[in-house]
Amino acid sequence: MPTILEAITTRSSKRAYLSKPISREIQEKILNAANMTPSGANMQPWIVYAISNEDVLTNIGDAIIQKMNDGVAHDQFIQYYPIKWSNPYKKRRLETGIGLYTLMEVDRKDTQTRTKMWHDNFRWFGAKTVFFVFTDKALIDGAQGALIDCGAYMQSIMLAAGEFGIDSCPQGSTTEYGKVVADILNAPEHLALLYSVVLGYADETAKINTYQPKRVEMEDIVTFIE
Ligand SMILES: Cc1cc2nc3c(=O)[nH]c(=O)nc-3n(C[C@H](O)[C@H](O)[C@H](O)COP(=O)(O)O)c2cc1C
Repeated sequence: MPTILEAITTRSSKRAYLSKPISREIQEKILNAANMTPSGANMQPWIVYAISNEDVLTNIGDAIIQKMNDGVAHDQFIQYYPIKWSNPYKKRRLETGIGLYTLMEVDRKDTQTRTKMWHDNFRWFGAKTVFFVFTDKALIDGAQGALIDCGAYMQSIMLAAGEFGIDSCPQGSTTEYGKVVADILNAPEHLALLYSVVLGYADETAKINTYQPKRVEMEDIVTFIE
């Protein structure tokens, strides 16, 4: 059994999965654990659609890809990425993208393969279960606290999944088409999609799953005052 530090430091986003479903029992264990995530005033602002129905996942993916093909850049409830990228974040984003494409030997100009790799998000990288995390629009109307809580909830899901040998990939790509997801799910009007997490049994033979982007040094982000 990994220690907590090992669980945190060995988790990484996986982008190729075996077509092996996750049992309902395990999904519930993950969700019950994640439900213990702390939240401001114990608001528990996360509302989840845990989807393993292949048709529903296909329909969501089809609808998003259709939107993309129609030239719709986003159809979202929240803007996840900055409107204006600045350094050091711009540089980190670029390095992370280049690292992945270099590993996969995809040329910078090969837009067809790059687009296909992005579309893989909406084919859930072959995984059979995706958790779509919504919050109540009322909580993010002029406030952002629920986003902090739901971010912590995301990490809880991924770490809890690790206990069962289940890997994951958080997705902001679905955030960008949150309204499309809500529409297909016929979600109540008061809900806003924040993100999704793909969950499954990673294909250990897939090269893409060896990708582990490095992190900045602690000195660059931490100020100790003693
Ligand atoms: C909120 C959030 C959204 C993300 N969106 C995507 C996504 O849409 N597609 C994807 O392949 N990876 C996505 N990622 C994964 C990041 O690229 C990844 O976490 C980062 O590069 C660090 O790599 P690691 O998770 O393997 O440690 C997302 C991660 C987070 C936390």
